[in-house]
Amino acid sequence: MSQWKKRVYKSVCISFCLVIMLTIFQRGASPGLLFSQSSMDSRELLSEVKRDTYPVPDGFWAAKTEKQATIESVTDTHSAEWDVNFINCTANWNLTNLDWFKTLEPNFQQFLLYSHCRYFPMIINNPQKCRGDVHLLIVVKSIITQHDRRDVIRKTWGKEKEVNGKKIRTVFLLGTAMKEEERANYQKLLDFENQIYGDIIQWDFLDSFFNLTLKEVHFLKWMTIYCPHVAYIFKGDDDVFVSPNNILDFLDGNTTPDLFVGDVLYKARPIRKKENKYYIPNSLYSKNFYPPYAGGGGFIMAGSLVKRLFKASETLDLYPIDDVFLGMCLEVIKVNPVFHEGFKTFGIVKNKNSKMNKEPCFYRHMLVVHKLLPAELQQMWDLVHSNLTCSRKVNIL
Ligand SMILES: *[C@@H]1O[C@H](CO)[C@@H](O)[C@H](O)[C@H]1NC(C)=O
Ligand SMILES: *[C@@H]1O[C@H](CO)[C@@H](O)[C@H](O)[C@H]1NC(C)=O
Ligand SMILES: *[C@@H]1O[C@H](CO)[C@@H](O)[C@H](O)[C@H]1NC(C)=O
Ligand SMILES: *[C@@H]1O[C@H](CO)[C@@H](O)[C@H](O)[C@H]1NC(C)=O
Repeated sequence: MSQWKKRVYKSVCISFCLVIMLTIFQRGASPGLLFSQSSMDSRELLSEVKRDTYPVPDGFWAAKTEKQATIESVTDTHSAEWDVNFINCTANWNLTNLDWFKTLEPNFQQFLLYSHCRYFPMIINNPQKCRGDVHLLIVVKSIITQHDRRDVIRKTWGKEKEVNGKKIRTVFLLGTAMKEEERANYQKLLDFENQIYGDIIQWDFLDSFFNLTLKEVHFLKWMTIYCPHVAYIFKGDDDVFVSPNNILDFLDGNTTPDLFVGDVLYKARPIRKKENKYYIPNSLYSKNFYPPYAGGGGFIMAGSLVKRLFKASETLDLYPIDDVFLGMCLEVIKVNPVFHEGFKTFGIVKNKNSKMNKEPCFYRHMLVVHKLLPAELQQMWDLVHSNLTCSRKVNIL
């Protein structure tokens, strides 16, 4: 058999098995292991980058005179449902006449040629998700092939439940598969997954690295339409450890209006080394520092911010790095993101190989910790929720 045929045959078999298993076991069994991770390796690199930056005191950016935000000029079209049903996105060839554009690397050119195409149609929606009073909406960035990660999240920190009358709900945000050959099979599986769990939100754009910012603006628009009244939102990656109980405790003690809290970098510099995945050419962003922003691995924000962030996002050009883009939106609405010790999106201690990074007694006191494979996540979750005897008191909260 040719390689190609083998591959198709294999995909079909895997799809078929999974469909059967999902059907039979419903919420029980874990078919996740069938999938290997062909993942977004991007975050690892980002952590490397971010590890070099340290927070500086609040107010650093406040001293700067900002260009006047023009939020008011964005029309307040508050549609009751997703209003993009069709996209005819043609490249903006005008750009190719500009000198600075010609000097850009092809991937940035590609990004800019299409960056005026702002919104795409929905493929899967769950408009009922926020019905009733949702206290905490857990929002997870996912990609179509990472079924196993979604699966373990549903069984651990993403489990929908009610704690003292406070409803927790979960959604996964997805685009479409990067590889043509993945598209048809995985899409059927995803439809199926959604029939069972009802927690998939999917739009019709490619789940590429630069399109993560599209995911951010789609999320803000979607939230404005379908979830305008949730109290709080946790948003994060699909490979982190999260403690919803600690988050709820933290929120109970919270009195900050317009809360936005996470692993905040107050003085991160744009990366100018071309080899780096996070390289940004000067012609795209010429300032020396980014506005304060929270690492995209996991942060919490008040639901009251969503609509304003959405409007702010519409006054800005898309920026290729999604968490920096959200920082830019925060700057427009003049909300300072707050740094909190409990968000360890770069590991618990700096040394990646330190045993502390696998020490459940630390996890117990954290809100978010990067970066675990599905099996590790399940194991850590079980340990943290067992009768642990922790000798050292780690008081973070
Ligand atoms: C899409 O837009 C291009 C140029 O604006 C136009 O030539 C083409 O007919 C449009 N296609 C559809 C399906 O509307
Ligand atoms: C490109 O330039 C033409 C003519 O100057 C203009 O009409 C058109 O709107 C421009 N296209 C975009 C996408 O800006
Ligand atoms: C983003 O998604 C759109 C729609 O699928 C695609 O045309 C575009 O090339 C993607 N952009 C990048 C930079 O990958
Ligand atoms: C943990 O300890 C308590 C009392 O010390 C006991 O009631 C409970 O069953 C234990 N739970 C587990 C999972 O061992």
